[in-house]
Amino acid sequence: MKGRFIVFEGIDGAGKSTQIEKLRQKLVNEGRKVFITAEPTASVTGGILRDALAGNYKRSASELAAMFLSDRVYHNVNENTGILQALEKGFDVISDRYYYSSFAYQGLDSDIDWVMNMNLNCPDIRKPDLCIFLDLDAQKSKSRIDTNRATIEIFEKEDVLNKIRNKFFDVFGRLPDENIAIIDASGSIDEVAEKISQVVDSLNDQH
Ligand code: TYD
Repeated sequence: MKGRFIVFEGIDGAGKSTQIEKLRQKLVNEGRKVFITAEPTASVTGGILRDALAGNYKRSASELAAMFLSDRVYHNVNENTGILQALEKGFDVISDRYYYSSFAYQGLDSDIDWVMNMNLNCPDIRKPDLCIFLDLDAQKSKSRIDTNRATIEIFEKEDVLNKIRNKFFDVFGRLPDENIAIIDASGSIDEVAEKISQVVDSLNDQH
């Protein structure tokens, strides 16, 4: 069986981690091999990015875009835990965030065309088979973040989250050739999981 490459996106607090775990269980129950991964990665660049996201060291949007690009190339090609080796081995790969996040987050304060071009034209960055965007309004996302987390990252303010959500929609309008499913994430965990399940099942026809 060939592995499929599925990406989860959404503003902070939209419920990606919970739904990734639900999808993992579903696919494993169907007898598929599943490989879960995330950006920023565990690489050295990923560590520098986490430091910047925590607000410990201020970086410009262009610096962040370039570092996320570098981290994403590593995420694809590294031979032990990379996306490409897992797909080769027949795993379904599920990534918590990918280049759509760079377009929405860094596209706000840097040149969005530059950010998109360097990611989409990079030969070592694989195009996903499916992007699942969990859509939740900024107010609900912020209240989930405040309930679940002790520390708040640089993007996790309600007005910023709202801008990023709008930017995601702008970005999706610029990507007619990508398979993007926008899922209303305001329902119960099981309701949202069911919607995701249907979209993922529709991939079977193509693979
Ligand atoms: P993380 O805590 O890993 O994710 P989450 O809060 O969604 O569980 O933080 C990821 C942060 O990095 C999130 O605020 C989005 C941001 N980000 C970018 O700005 N650009 C990118 O290209 C990626 C992958 C993430």
